[in-house]
Amino acid sequence: MSLLNDLTGASPGLSPRAVFLRLGAIGALVAGTAGAFAYAGGWLSPGDLTQARIVDRFEQINGPHPGFRRNHAKGLCLAGRFESSGGGARLSKASLFAAGQVTPVTGRIALAGGQPSAADAVATVRSLALRFHLPDGEEWRTGNNDIPVFPVRTPEAFYAQLLAAKPDPATGKPDPEALKAFFAAHPESAKAAALIKARTITSGFADDTFRSLNAFRFVAADGNETLVRWAFVPEQAATAESPAQTARADKNFLFDDFAAVIRQGPVRWHLVVTLGAPKEASADATLPWPSEGASVDVGRVVVTATEAEASGNCRDVNFDPLVLPAGIVGSDDPLLSARSAAYSQSFTRRAGEPKAPSAVHDTPVSGAGL
Ligand code: HEM
Repeated sequence: MSLLNDLTGASPGLSPRAVFLRLGAIGALVAGTAGAFAYAGGWLSPGDLTQARIVDRFEQINGPHPGFRRNHAKGLCLAGRFESSGGGARLSKASLFAAGQVTPVTGRIALAGGQPSAADAVATVRSLALRFHLPDGEEWRTGNNDIPVFPVRTPEAFYAQLLAAKPDPATGKPDPEALKAFFAAHPESAKAAALIKARTITSGFADDTFRSLNAFRFVAADGNETLVRWAFVPEQAATAESPAQTARADKNFLFDDFAAVIRQGPVRWHLVVTLGAPKEASADATLPWPSEGASVDVGRVVVTATEAEASGNCRDVNFDPLVLPAGIVGSDDPLLSARSAAYSQSFTRRAGEPKAPSAVHDTPVSGAGL
């Protein structure tokens, strides 16, 4: 058999024309596959925003921190359970909302920003990421921040804002001219920034409220869909941050305080779901939803244990907001797919890198395996 016939798998009796046609088909297949990879990698459209470029920008702003998340880099793992009140069962068929259902939960508290060893500061945005372990391997992963609205509406604005808010090494503060230009180009972000600045800053993680910010849809057993946002509202009354807290030498005081509270007993947050009216924006996380919107308390998260990040616990998890159980689906908010893509890119990079220990050295609190 000739070399051409070997390559095409053609039988020895094929004419040279048929062989070349087959070779052409193989070439087209190879070129198509390579093109698909190049397209997915963003190489054909250097001007387009891709997940790789978003994560490159985090690295450009924060410097290299191999092994750590490119955002929300400093964190502590937690574990506990979700106790359903039954109030969510008419809105979503997800099994965790059935009355009396108890669902194991693992998760992570963290500070926004790409510096894994930054000193804790009360005004830094705090987060609560949770992973609900439903029966049959189903999961709900959700990342929530302690701000009333998100500072940007689109992934492109997020990318621009990262650069505009980059601290100047000389002053430690962003260039005011760059920020001014960003807000002039994104008036919705200027409004959101004012709401974020005006928020009440609580004393720590345990008395803070964490919000989904993005909209989702709950799907009921009869197929009915409800536009929702949610918040994890602390059972503990909120206390304001105090100067005595910030004056402490402990660079991890927010995390250490949380671990100390858990050593005394569980911390609880109610999962409060706000039902969006048709007029409410589902694709603009810079806009608050009116407070007159109906809300339903669907149960509470009870955190019983904390543990420093380590191999095999919350460190090696991607809290992709689109990992959802049957009964919850995404909305048309463009941030959701951008988050999913960027988290995956951040996860892939950090998974392949050597790991250093977390700056948060917690004494494990027994009670639940993480
Ligand atoms: C386009 C917009 C956004 C981008 C590009 C972005 C990017 C990222 C990246 C790269 C990570 C690290 C992921 C990992 O390595 O596991 C992260 C973590 C996180 N993000 Fe975003 N984010 C965006 C919007 C949001 C929004 C709207 C929220 C709303 C609450 C949010 C909440 C969080 C939380 C809670 C974490 C930490 C999760 C954990 O503890 O692992 N992000 N983000």
